[in-house]
Amino acid sequence: MALPARILALLSFGLIAGAAAGSMASLDGIYALAKRRVPTHAHFFSFSFSSGEPDSFVISDVPQGIHVDCTTVSACARGLYTYLTQFGGTDIWWTGSRLTSLPIRLPKVGTPVKGQAIVPYRYHFNTVTFSYTTPFWIFDQWEFELDWLALRGVNLPLAWNGYEYILSETFREVGLTDADIASFLSGPAFQAWNRFGNIQSSWGGDLPTAWINDQFELQKQIVKRMTELGMTPVLPSFTGFVPRALPSLYPNASIINGSQWAGFPTALTNVTFLEPFDPLFTTMQKSFISKQNEAYGNASHIYTLDQYNENEPFSGDPAYLANISAGTFASLRAADPDAVWLMQGWLFYAEEGFWTDDRVEAYLGGVPGNDSMLILDLYSEAHPQWNRTASYYGKQWIWCELHGYGGNIGMEGNLDAITQGPVAALHAPGSSMKGMGLTMEGQEGDELIYDALLDQAWSPTPLDLTTYVDKWVARRYLKSPLPSAAVDAWRVLAATVYNNQDPGTQSTIKPIFELTPSLTGRANITGVRSTAIPYDTNATVLVAAHRLLQAHRQNPLLGSVPEFAYDVVDVTRQLLSNRFADRYTALVDAYNATDATPASVSAAGEPVLALLDDLDALLATNEHFLLSSWISDAKRWAHGDAAYERLLEYNARNQIALWGPDGEINDYASKSWAGVVGTYYKDRWAAFVDYLVETKKNGTAYDDAVVQAKNLAIGMEWCNETWGTGKGETWGTVGNPFEVAQKLVKKWG
Ligand SMILES: *[C@@H]1O[C@H](CO)[C@@H](O)[C@H](O)[C@H]1NC(C)=O
Ligand SMILES: *[C@@H]1O[C@H](CO)[C@@H](O)[C@H](O)[C@H]1NC(C)=O
Ligand SMILES: *[C@@H]1O[C@H](CO)[C@@H](O)[C@H](O)[C@H]1NC(C)=O
Ligand SMILES: *[C@@H]1O[C@H](CO)[C@@H](O)[C@H](O)[C@H]1NC(C)=O
Ligand SMILES: *[C@@H]1O[C@H](CO)[C@@H](O)[C@H](O)[C@H]1NC(C)=O
Ligand SMILES: *[C@@H]1O[C@H](CO)[C@@H](O)[C@H](O)[C@H]1NC(C)=O
Ligand SMILES: *[C@@H]1O[C@H](CO)[C@@H](O)[C@H](O)[C@H]1NC(C)=O
Ligand SMILES: *[C@@H]1O[C@H](CO)[C@@H](O)[C@H](O)[C@H]1NC(C)=O
Ligand SMILES: *[C@@H]1O[C@H](CO)[C@@H](O)[C@H](O)[C@H]1NC(C)=O
Ligand SMILES: *[C@@H]1O[C@H](CO)[C@@H](O)[C@H](O)[C@H]1NC(C)=O
Ligand SMILES: *[C@@H]1O[C@H](CO)[C@@H](O)[C@H](O)[C@H]1NC(C)=O
Ligand SMILES: *[C@@H]1O[C@H](CO)[C@@H](O)[C@H](O)[C@H]1NC(C)=O
Repeated sequence: MALPARILALLSFGLIAGAAAGSMASLDGIYALAKRRVPTHAHFFSFSFSSGEPDSFVISDVPQGIHVDCTTVSACARGLYTYLTQFGGTDIWWTGSRLTSLPIRLPKVGTPVKGQAIVPYRYHFNTVTFSYTTPFWIFDQWEFELDWLALRGVNLPLAWNGYEYILSETFREVGLTDADIASFLSGPAFQAWNRFGNIQSSWGGDLPTAWINDQFELQKQIVKRMTELGMTPVLPSFTGFVPRALPSLYPNASIINGSQWAGFPTALTNVTFLEPFDPLFTTMQKSFISKQNEAYGNASHIYTLDQYNENEPFSGDPAYLANISAGTFASLRAADPDAVWLMQGWLFYAEEGFWTDDRVEAYLGGVPGNDSMLILDLYSEAHPQWNRTASYYGKQWIWCELHGYGGNIGMEGNLDAITQGPVAALHAPGSSMKGMGLTMEGQEGDELIYDALLDQAWSPTPLDLTTYVDKWVARRYLKSPLPSAAVDAWRVLAATVYNNQDPGTQSTIKPIFELTPSLTGRANITGVRSTAIPYDTNATVLVAAHRLLQAHRQNPLLGSVPEFAYDVVDVTRQLLSNRFADRYTALVDAYNATDATPASVSAAGEPVLALLDDLDALLATNEHFLLSSWISDAKRWAHGDAAYERLLEYNARNQIALWGPDGEINDYASKSWAGVVGTYYKDRWAAFVDYLVETKKNGTAYDDAVVQAKNLAIGMEWCNETWGTGKGETWGTVGNPFEVAQKLVKKWG
C-alpha cells in the first residue's frame, strides 16, 4: 500500500507527540504543571485538545481567565509558556523559577495568539550530559528540569538513568556473573562513556549495587513525568558492549575488542563488542527491551544507540558497516516492531577521516527506510554534516546545538547561526530535517543561546534578535523600572560574545588557568579546548560588567533577583578569566627575558596567583559556582555510608580534574568553581611559579616533564581529598556578589 508522501508526513508528524500517551493523551500533566509552577493562578488556566495543525496552540481570554487549546500535550505546555513569558513577563530559568512573579490580575490576551512548532521533534540532551551535569541529581532537580523543558516545547528528551539496572538483568540472563558485570560497569561519574563503549570497568571502586537500584527507581519517576508532560522519552537499548567474560561463555559468538579510547589502558577500554549479526545480539536486544517496557510501561519506540562514538569500527569495508547497522536495526525491530533508532552524529565530524561519504552512506544505508532512524546532527551551529551527506541520504535528522564541552562554562555562542541556520536547513532542497534540539555536553551558563534555539523551533522565520534579546532581559530581571544599562549589557554581549562567527572557537572558551601550567602550548589554542578569545574583552565583557553594576546602583532591588546576581558573577568571572591570559603571557615573557632574575619572575607570578584568589572569592558568593554543591549532591546518594561517600566524592573530583586514574583526559571537564580555582588550580600555578623562580636561582633550564609530573602529583592528591576538612572549606556561599564584583571589576578591569 502506498500512501501519498504528504499524508505519510502528516501521519508521522502526529504520531510523534502522541506516541507517549497514544490515543489516551491526557491534559492532567499540564494541569499539574500549572499547579506546580503558578499555584496561586493555576485555577485561572484551562486547556483543551482539538484537531488541527500538528503541535499547534491557540491562547485566548475566557471568562474564567486564560484558555489554551492545543493539538498535542507538548503544544499546550508551549502555549502556557507563551502566555507566561509574553503576557505574564516571567520565566523559569536554570537558576530557578520566577513564574510565581505573575501579576496578581492576569493580563488579557486580546486577539487570540496562535503558535505552531516548525518541526515535529524538539530534542534535548547529549549522552554525556548525564555524566557532566545530571549524574547526582535527585528527582526534585529532574522535576525542575522537565518543567523547564516542557514549557519550552521540548517533546523528545533523552532518558539514560537506570540503564545499568536493565542491562545487568540482561547480562545475568545470558549467564554472566555479578563479578563479570561489576568488572564491566564504570563509576557513577563516568557512566556516559561506558554506555558509549569508550570505557569499561572503574577506578576508585566498583559501581555500588545501591547506586544501580536507586537510579532505576529514579528513572521510573523521570519516564512517568516525561510522558505526563507530553514528551516521548528516548530510551536506551542493547548496544553490543559486553563484559570481557562473554566470549568464554559463548566461544562461537562473533565477539571482538573495540578500539582504544583517549589513551586509557586496555583494562579500561578496548571494550568487548558483540557483533550485531550474531543471533545472540538479537536475543539480548529482545531481552533488554522487553524488561525495559515492563519497567516503564511501553513508554517509547525511540531508542538511543551509539556504537562508534569515538570508537573505530573493526573494519572500514562499506559492506561490513552496512552489515553492522542492518543487524542492529533488525534486532531493534525484532524487539519492537515500531522501533526508531536515534544516534548521535558526532562521529561523522570528529572522525571525518574515517567516516568518508561512502562509509556514512553504507552505514546509514544498512537500515531500511527513512523514518527508521533519527540522526542528531550534533554540531550544526559550527560543523554541520547534513550538508555533506545529502541530508543523511534521506534519513530523518535533528539540527542540534552542541556547546558546553565537558561542562566548561566560558561564555560563547553564535546567535545568528542558531536562528538562521535551522530555518535554512529546513527549507534546503531535499531536506529530511525533522527536529531541532540542544545537545550540549554540560548544561550550564549561556542560557540565552539555548532559549533562542528552542524558541526558534516555534518561529517560521529567524527570530529578530534585537527585540528578542530586549524582551529576554526584561523578563529575566523582572524589576521595573529596569535601568537601560542592564539591557545595554546584554545587547553588547548578544552582538559579540554570543555572536561568534568563527568556527575555530565555537566551543567554549576555556580559561588558561584551568589547564596544567606550562611555558608553552597554553595560549591561543583553537578547537574544542579553545583558549583563544575571539573578541576584544575591553569592548565586550568589561562593558557588560560595568553596565550591570551600574544598573544595580540605579535600582538596588535588582540585587534580589537571583538571575541578576548570577549574571553579575558570570560576567565578572569571564572578565577575570580573560585577564588571566594577559598575566600568564606577562609571566612567560618575564621568564624568557634575557635579563630575567628570580625576583623579576617572582614579581610576574604574583598577579597570576592573586587573580586566582580573587576569582575564587567571587565564585564563592554564588551557589551556582561551588565545588561544594557538586560534592554534596554526589554524597547524598550514599545515605550516610562513609565508604560510599568517599567513592562518590572521588568520582566527582576525578571527573573534573584528572578524568581517568592517571590524568588520561586531564582538565577536559575543568570547572571555574570556588573550591577548584582556589585550591586545585591555585596550587598548580603556585608550584609552577616556584619552579620557575628556582630554575632562575639555580641557573638550570626549564624542563616541562618536571612541571607536568608535579601537576599530576598535585592532581592525584586533590582527587583523594575530602571537602570540608581543609582550611576555609565551607558548604555554602560566602560574601556579597555585588560588593566583590564591584571591587574586582575595578581592580582587574
Ligand atoms: C562451537 O562450534 C563448534 C564447531 O562448529 C562446535 O563443535 C561447538 O559445539 C560449538 N560450541 C558451542 C558452545 O556452541
Ligand atoms: C580483548 O582484550 C582482552 C584483554 O587484553 C584479551 O584478553 C582478549 O583476548 C581480547 N579479545 C580479542 C577477541 O581480541
Ligand atoms: C585496543 O585498540 C587499539 C586500537 O585502537 C589496538 O591497537 C589494540 O590492539 C587494542 N587492544 C586490544 C587488547 O584489543
Ligand atoms: C507493553 O506492550 C506489550 C505488547 O503490546 C503488552 O503485552 C504489555 O502488557 C505492555 N506492558 C505494559 C507495562 O504496558
Ligand atoms: C553479515 O555478516 C555475517 C557474517 O559474515 C553474515 O552471516 C550475515 O549474513 C551478514 N548479514 C547481512 C545483513 O549482510
Ligand atoms: C556545510 O556547511 C558548513 C557551514 O555552513 C560549511 O562550512 C561547509 O563547507 C558545508 N559543507 C559542504 C560539504 O557543503
Ligand atoms: C529515502 O530518502 C531518499 C532521499 O530522499 C530517497 O531517495 C529514498 O527513496 C527514500 N527511501 C524511502 C524508502 O523512502
Ligand atoms: C596570543 O595571541 C595574542 C593576540 O594575537 C598575542 O598577543 C599573544 O602574544 C599570543 N600569546 C602567545 C603565548 O602566543
Ligand atoms: C584593555 O584594557 C586594559 C586595561 O585598561 C589595557 O591594558 C589593554 O591594553 C586594553 N586592551 C586592548 C586590546 O585595548
Ligand atoms: C619561552 O621559553 C620557552 C623555553 O625556552 C620557549 O619554548 C617558548 O617558546 C618561549 N615563549 C615565548 C613566548 O617566547
Ligand atoms: C634548585 O637547587 C636546589 C638545591 O640544589 C634543589 O634542591 C632544587 O631541586 C633545584 N630546583 C630546581 C627547579 O631545579
Ligand atoms: C589516593 O587514595 C588511594 C586509595 O586509597 C591510594 O591508593 C592512593 O595512593 C592515594 N593517592 C594519593 C596521591 O594520595
